[in-house]
Amino acid sequence: MEPIDADYGLLVDNLLDLSHETYLHGGHIGTPEVAETPITTEVDEGAGIVRVSRHMDDAECPPFYARSTGISGRIDRWQDIEYHTPCLYVLHSRVAPTGAVPAPDGGDPEGFHTEITYAVTPSGDGKVYDFWAVSRDWATDDAEVTEFLYKNNRTVVMQDVDARYGDRVRIVPEDESGLLDLASVLDDVAPGTLVYCCGPGGLLDAVEARCPAGILRVERFRPKEADVQAPAGPEFEVVLARSGRTVAVPPGVSVLDAVREAGVEVLYSCTEGTCGTCETEVVEGEPDHRDSVLTEEERAAGETMLICVSRCRGRRLVLDL
Ligand code: FES
Ligand SMILES: [Fe+2]
Repeated sequence: MEPIDADYGLLVDNLLDLSHETYLHGGHIGTPEVAETPITTEVDEGAGIVRVSRHMDDAECPPFYARSTGISGRIDRWQDIEYHTPCLYVLHSRVAPTGAVPAPDGGDPEGFHTEITYAVTPSGDGKVYDFWAVSRDWATDDAEVTEFLYKNNRTVVMQDVDARYGDRVRIVPEDESGLLDLASVLDDVAPGTLVYCCGPGGLLDAVEARCPAGILRVERFRPKEADVQAPAGPEFEVVLARSGRTVAVPPGVSVLDAVREAGVEVLYSCTEGTCGTCETEVVEGEPDHRDSVLTEEERAAGETMLICVSRCRGRRLVLDL
């Protein structure tokens, strides 16, 4: 999966018009024939499916297939796309030595069949999670072929990202370049820069330790180790500023659960202080922050708190609820 800053429609357009393989993905999947061979297109309105086919006879075999199948000569290469609106895309790919045709009963012993699937999932305005998979019907227990196809397809996906953002994006794959040199990206950031970081806990901790104060935004999928003790702590009370009601928060119960129990509708998701959904304005009182979202400066300011895990340093909090 790759998170990509692009509208899902743009990505679908890119996948439906594979002629760009020739210009962008040479050395991987692009050959001259892809751009030169006309396509046929069929739209099934009822089923919400668009089918795009390109059948190339006597074509060059690109490295993606030559190295994984072992075919050394020219090939017949078929690309049959099924796009299920809005977001599911499957490319049925067949390559075979030139002249080999499937049998009337559907058997195709000389053909190598690959299913390349993209589940392009919008994750926000102009953002997608690009889930992709490459499956095949040959050498299925050959781990080297699996690794080769995985790496190649990922490179192809990232070439599209590169092409969209040009020199504004630099991709540093760990398997090619080793661990990211944090000093080179964090020690000399221009004024006004914000750093967004998402990934394994070790990376986030290292970036937090190195990043200048106040400019880092992280996305964690697990709470920070030191903060998991929530919701232990003594009882306190929460005053709901909008209604004036007071709710007791006993030990072992979160503010979120206490206010929901009292019938207040609150937005929340992770309940472990990592997503930021339950962030609530503090009108009075001193929060005991236990989340993995707020920066040190935001914690010190005490203007908001994550009520699914954070508690109170004193006996009373007034919240904008
Ligand atoms: S619900 Fe996710 S941080 Fe509180
Ligand atoms: Fe592409």
